[in-house]
Amino acid sequence: MNASIDPPHPQAAGLRIGDTAPNFEARSTVGPVRLSDFRGNWLILFSHPADFTPVCTTEFIELAKAASEFDMRDCALMALSVDSLFAHFAWLRMIRDRFDIEVRFPIVEDPTLVIGRAFGMVAPGDNDSATVRSTYFIDPSGTIRAMTCYPANVGRSTSEMLRTLDALQAIDADGGLAPANWGPGEKLLRAPTVDLDEVYSAKDETSWFLREKGAKTK
Ligand code: BEZ
Repeated sequence: MNASIDPPHPQAAGLRIGDTAPNFEARSTVGPVRLSDFRGNWLILFSHPADFTPVCTTEFIELAKAASEFDMRDCALMALSVDSLFAHFAWLRMIRDRFDIEVRFPIVEDPTLVIGRAFGMVAPGDNDSATVRSTYFIDPSGTIRAMTCYPANVGRSTSEMLRTLDALQAIDADGGLAPANWGPGEKLLRAPTVDLDEVYSAKDETSWFLREKGAKTK
């Protein structure tokens, strides 16, 4: 089975926040997967440059250790690289034997980079077959809600991935805004007013725009 993308993305300009994640079908370490099968749940889809590389190995160990944390948040993980299914298997076997942890989330093979190019994990004209460390937070409706892109030589932070997911889920539940360094249990912010009378009548010069949810402005 060759990986395929639906609809086809000839230009592969990359995706933006708010776009619907293109559906794809591909082989993975847990059998054939379709992105659309994950509708109804959160999904973090992420690419890595190559199997059997040092930074990627540390990322997979940490994500496998944190798998139950993502599970608790109804969020599946799915990895992707250009390497073959058998390279993925050999790498996971080595990780299990050497580091005593089993990676159970799917790792997709994308040998032609048809998926990687559609998502913008590789630049359209790039002849390097490796993807960068792109991460897509996809909500239960299939919409891309956040994206990050790290270079090959900097590993991602599992705790920041969880924090971003927590923030997206909290704003969906409560309709607020998550401030810098927000963490679960902390207050969200309210959107600023768009009413000039409220600006003039606010109790001080910041309370019309920088205000916690539930806080009074007057
Ligand atoms: C790494 O995961 O260590 C890595 C991957 C590709 C290029 C450089 C480093």
